[in-house]
Amino acid sequence: MSSTFGHNIKISIFGQSHSEAIGVVIDGLPAGFRLDIDELMRFMARRAPGKNSYATPRREADIPEFLSGLVDGVTCGAPLCAVIRNKDTRSGDYNNLRDVPRPAHADYTAQLKYKGAQDINGGGHFSGRLTAPLCIAGGICLQLLKKENIEIAAHIASIGTIPDRLFHPVDVGRDDFITLRSAPFPVLEPLSGEKMLAAIETAKNDGDSLGGVVECAAIGVPGGLGDPMFDGMENRIAGIIFGIPAVRGIEFGSGFSGTILRGSENNDSFMAKDGIISTRTNNHGGILAGITSGMPIIFRTAFKPTPSIAREQQSVSLSEKTNVTLAIKGRHDPCIVPRAVPCVEAASAIALYDALLENNKYK
Ligand SMILES: Cc1cc2nc3c(=O)[nH]c(=O)nc-3n(C[C@H](O)[C@H](O)[C@H](O)COP(=O)(O)O)c2cc1C
Repeated sequence: MSSTFGHNIKISIFGQSHSEAIGVVIDGLPAGFRLDIDELMRFMARRAPGKNSYATPRREADIPEFLSGLVDGVTCGAPLCAVIRNKDTRSGDYNNLRDVPRPAHADYTAQLKYKGAQDINGGGHFSGRLTAPLCIAGGICLQLLKKENIEIAAHIASIGTIPDRLFHPVDVGRDDFITLRSAPFPVLEPLSGEKMLAAIETAKNDGDSLGGVVECAAIGVPGGLGDPMFDGMENRIAGIIFGIPAVRGIEFGSGFSGTILRGSENNDSFMAKDGIISTRTNNHGGILAGITSGMPIIFRTAFKPTPSIAREQQSVSLSEKTNVTLAIKGRHDPCIVPRAVPCVEAASAIALYDALLENNKYK
């Protein structure tokens, strides 16, 4: 069941980019929770397309309709179902892709698996559009986590070769979180943001695209969440993060750069202050042995450059078994990364809230 996630809340995402609607069913939400719809709308708006030159011009308001699970804005314990109607579809743009697959997109492997039955329009169920229902579920989990004083925020850590400042691994600022949530282009250093925007514009004018890295932090997470081995907190976060299209990698804490350190440098020594145990540094990124330590959870997610580019590319005709040149029509994000920032927040919120519910049994 590839589009379903969770142990204690179960989210199930359905729909295709150009189907009647996309949506999510969330089972297991606590009853009696008043959802802040305005806050959810603000969160959804951060992912929605059509607002600027670095996102696809496809115009979708992405307003969820709640079909069940809410009574007067309060969860009632029944599965919550929310849908978003697809409005701005242009399926004709995708006609040639069934025979001539886009390099780096889902067209070729979907054909291998579904033998032509797949919905190709707008990328079908593989489209980045399916992150809208992910953001509905994640936006709700973010609100539930906030009630427990757990907050999550992400920023663009790099676009192409241009880096932003990283979060302070120990002292992640709640003030930064507030700024990032209301920023149209979420970076910690405005100058880096300007350079990134210029680089995206240049790539777009070249008929090309750029990738990048999103850094995410969760603060206030209690120690003791997660399990050893195959169900560790890293496994769970990575599992849902890889559900976001175009994700190519994830690293926690010092990640790959930790491999060039010595143990004496990479180990986070423990300290006790005012009766509270913490670590002086946070190379472990808030998770040791699959279990949260109580330090901020910090991880970075790698996004590849958008596969659909305006430049002509080499592909094949699957029916003719010949080499052909492909010119892609349709409307695409020259860089996915800015719109992926709330998706990363949403995915990690679902994984963390799911783990938090589970831990209640050890109280
Ligand atoms: C928010 C978001 C928007 C995306 N927009 C596009 C797009 O406009 N054009 C495109 O080719 N891919 C886009 N993608 C990426 C593709 O959906 C993805 O690369 C494709 O399904 C293949 O999956 P994979 O990259 O995970 O292997 C987007 C992804 C996300 C998360």
